[in-house]
Amino acid sequence: EESSLVMAIESSCDETAVAIIDAAGRMLANQVSTQIDFHARFGGVVPEIASRKHVEVIVGVVDAALEEAAASLGLADSVAPGELAAVGVTQGPGLVGALVVGVAFAKGFAFAAGKPLIAVNHLEGHLYANLLTTPDLEPPFIFTLVSGGHTMLVHVRAWGDYEVLGETLDDAVGEAFDKVAKALGLGYPGGPIISRLAEDGDSKAIDFPRAMMHSHDYRFSLSGLKTAVVTYIEQEAAAGRTIHLPDLAASFEAAVFDVQFKKAWDALKQTGAKEYCLGGGVAANPHLRELLVRKLSRRGVRVTLPPQHACTDNAAMIAEVARRKYREGDYAAFDMDADPNMTL
Ligand code: KG4
Ligand code: ZN
Repeated sequence: EESSLVMAIESSCDETAVAIIDAAGRMLANQVSTQIDFHARFGGVVPEIASRKHVEVIVGVVDAALEEAAASLGLADSVAPGELAAVGVTQGPGLVGALVVGVAFAKGFAFAAGKPLIAVNHLEGHLYANLLTTPDLEPPFIFTLVSGGHTMLVHVRAWGDYEVLGETLDDAVGEAFDKVAKALGLGYPGGPIISRLAEDGDSKAIDFPRAMMHSHDYRFSLSGLKTAVVTYIEQEAAAGRTIHLPDLAASFEAAVFDVQFKKAWDALKQTGAKEYCLGGGVAANPHLRELLVRKLSRRGVRVTLPPQHACTDNAAMIAEVARRKYREGDYAAFDMDADPNMTL
């Protein structure tokens, strides 16, 4: 029997991840090894450390995925490389030294096993994470990508046909969360910390600016909001007042998410699309998820969200892209190189 198992490797930033998917889209293995603890004390990802950690752990993560896949299939022995149909890998965008580790490993592995290599765009991975919950998602639709590195509003006209309506002019949304948490001395990454605090806060407590809200385009700006938060912290400290962190977190989130909703809705109206989906690490935020579902459903838009655990970087989403590319025979040449600046 011909194998149809596709293994996918993700190493674009600070997680080393490997997933194995079957032809029907069943995820047989989904391993993530995070380096967060090694970067946290520096307040962000240190590229050189990221590369070295990927080198250290990648063989172990692949082995764990091959074993997990065997267990999922009810096999006693680990899945052998020769039993895979193809090897997919994130080509970009991301940290070049981190990407190179995954790309070089995938090439060597595929070459030795005599299997095709598949190159995956990380941003497309974040989009395809939506197919893990909603396999029948079909273009045209509007897609918001909010991660640590990107903030993009995209009109997906067909699979592979992306019209980027607008991007951030400065910081990405996830980056703004990280910078605000850092300014408050709360640790890294900021997203999960801020969103947990915001649960007990009043989103109307502080009136932070909604940058570019009425700019009549699809561009975003986050650096002014970050500055407004820092200024607020300094003013409160100077006045001898203690900052109510939950209120600050909830008010910051509201300022970011109000703009996200406004522009997504504008894009839906302008394109006439009836479907909307979300992706990237910030898509794990429960308040953003709830707000978009509530406000867009009410307006007749079907909203698709990735599973919460598949929003931050993982290989399951990369495997879903690779599975579809494998089906289409869309293989990469073995001289394929990591591309840190890849876009949609
Ligand atoms: O997609 P991702 O894992 O990596 C990139 O491709 O950039 O996104 C990481 C970003 C970080 O900035 C992190 O703070 C943010 O996603 N993030 C969140 C949440 N969880 C992760 N932001 C807001 N709320 C969250 N719950
Ligand atoms: Zn990502």
